[in-house]
Amino acid sequence: MFFKKITLTGYKNYHSKTFDFSKRIVGIFGLNGKGKTNLLDAINYLCFTKSYFSKSEQINVCFGEDGFRLEGEILTEHERNKSEKVVCIYRASQKKEFYLDDVSYEKFSHHIGKFPCVVIAPDDIGMITGGSEERRKFFDTLISQVDAEYLQQLIIYNKVLAQRNGFLKNEALRSTFNFALLETLDEQLFAPANYIHKTRKQFSQQLFPLIQQFYKNISGNNEVINIEYNSLLNENNFAELLIASRQKDRLTQRTNTGIHRDDLIFLLQENVFKTIASQGQRKSLLFACKLAEFEIFKKVKNSAPFLLLDDVFEKLDENRIQNLLEYVCKENNGQVFITDTHADRLEKALAQFGNEIQIIELR
Ligand SMILES: Nc1ncnc2c1ncn2[C@@H]1O[C@H](COP(=O)(O)OP(=O)(O)OP(=O)(O)O)[C@@H](O)[C@H]1O
Ligand SMILES: [Mg+2]
Repeated sequence: MFFKKITLTGYKNYHSKTFDFSKRIVGIFGLNGKGKTNLLDAINYLCFTKSYFSKSEQINVCFGEDGFRLEGEILTEHERNKSEKVVCIYRASQKKEFYLDDVSYEKFSHHIGKFPCVVIAPDDIGMITGGSEERRKFFDTLISQVDAEYLQQLIIYNKVLAQRNGFLKNEALRSTFNFALLETLDEQLFAPANYIHKTRKQFSQQLFPLIQQFYKNISGNNEVINIEYNSLLNENNFAELLIASRQKDRLTQRTNTGIHRDDLIFLLQENVFKTIASQGQRKSLLFACKLAEFEIFKKVKNSAPFLLLDDVFEKLDENRIQNLLEYVCKENNGQVFITDTHADRLEKALAQFGNEIQIIELR
């Protein structure tokens, strides 16, 4: 896949602008607020039918405009000369439209996976430093894209879980307790919980060694990362866990056990990573996780996703930058977009890739 051209009209800070991408490695530099992240976001948008950063479409509309339009031209590998046109049109208070080669999608989800893309942005560091929810999200986003059944089971689980929590809250207000209904809800949780647990466990076996290897490659030394998939279901039967937790669930009015409490635990030399790691080490681990995701997509889809690296160099020392580029630009043969605020740092880092690079300055 090769992203050849993108035109942004009324998208965030872009009134109207076209970018032609001529090389496999695209470096984008400009000062703060010039639109580097917004440009990457527009590329991501055309791959995922939505922004990586903003939940509301209205926020994406350039101030003073009524809507936005994004148009991209992507060359596909299997038919080398085939160019595909992806267009998204959003007008305030109207339904968003999304087209592939002028044919509109009924369901946007049908577009996802056609042009796979992996973004690595500074705020993603939350998956290393933040709460368990962000790490489950990483797991879920990754597995859902390669196992459609997983996503369905997750949707069912979350729906029943919300019903069960609602039930526990309601029941607390009454003098009687409807055990029969609780048991019915519990039974509905078994199948999806067990499926999700089994799949997460299987995936861990594939994912963890990749993360460890990438971390080792980026850090370039013998820092050893260990990763554990932490789930109450690892050693216990879920049905028994629910019964054991019943009293506590009634008191706290929520479900205290299940796969919604799972976590990934990162250890650095046997210590909890996030509590002892430096900023550069945290960023290295974030890259290791995302590149492991990238590697899995690449294998499943048989083609390298677009890689969008926002503000990569910040906090990484020269050795780590070099080790990272070695993989993303050399070993990987897909198209890569890299932003930085320092023109000289970016140019210097990419110079080694000779005529494979294109540098774009945003003023
Ligand atoms: N809807 C919008 N309409 C107009 N301008 C917008 C809109 N949303 C964001 N902006 C502007 O876009 C700019 C931010 O762009 P972006 O985040 O892409 O910058 P950046 O080049 O990545 O900067 P940094 O180096 O700080 O990360 C800001 O100046 C912001 O005010
Ligand atoms: Mg930015």
